[in-house]
Amino acid sequence: MEKGFILWLTGLSGSGKTTISKALEPELKTRGCKVEILDGDVVRTNLSKGLGFSKEDRDTNIRRIGFVANLLSRNGVVAITAAISPYRAIRDEIRAMEPNFVEVYVKAPLEVCEVRDVKGLYAKVRAGEIKGFTGIDDAYEAPLNPEIVCCTDEESLEDSVKKVLSKLEQLGYI
Ligand code: ADX
Repeated sequence: MEKGFILWLTGLSGSGKTTISKALEPELKTRGCKVEILDGDVVRTNLSKGLGFSKEDRDTNIRRIGFVANLLSRNGVVAITAAISPYRAIRDEIRAMEPNFVEVYVKAPLEVCEVRDVKGLYAKVRAGEIKGFTGIDDAYEAPLNPEIVCCTDEESLEDSVKKVLSKLEQLGYI
């Protein structure tokens, strides 16, 4: 059986988590991996439907994603998660229960995410329509020791994908 692992992407809204995860999927498949993406926005429409953005609800959301990712990884699937996952303690909790955990900090300054404003949410935040938005008036705790950092304001998508793949090779996962 192929070796499963969790590739845990964390970063601000608009930092590039979904984009990187989607670009990685075919690359990993080409290398013989089975891949499943657990994207925050998608998970929140089914598995975590009804949850909001309080710390408690975010923690519940992340624990659910971690639980499913662990089931996948132990069955030989590469589980790529792409949720903000703002709290370090919960990410570390999942790291502690998962033998094969690779954390990717998808890093872009808030100003850059805000200019990108892919979903138009930062504009709504600035208009006062959304409260408790990560990085603005809600916490984002950056990883202290991630296996990989993708600086998406400085490197191309191709660079980020290459960086992740070469680290996975170096770690013996692919
Ligand atoms: S997490 O904090 O629980 O990890 P998750 O990644 O699932 O978050 O969902 C974040 C997405 O929900 C954002 O990319 C954005 O599209 C949307 N969203 C809506 N309200 C908020 C908010 N208050 N803070 C952050 N993201 C929000």
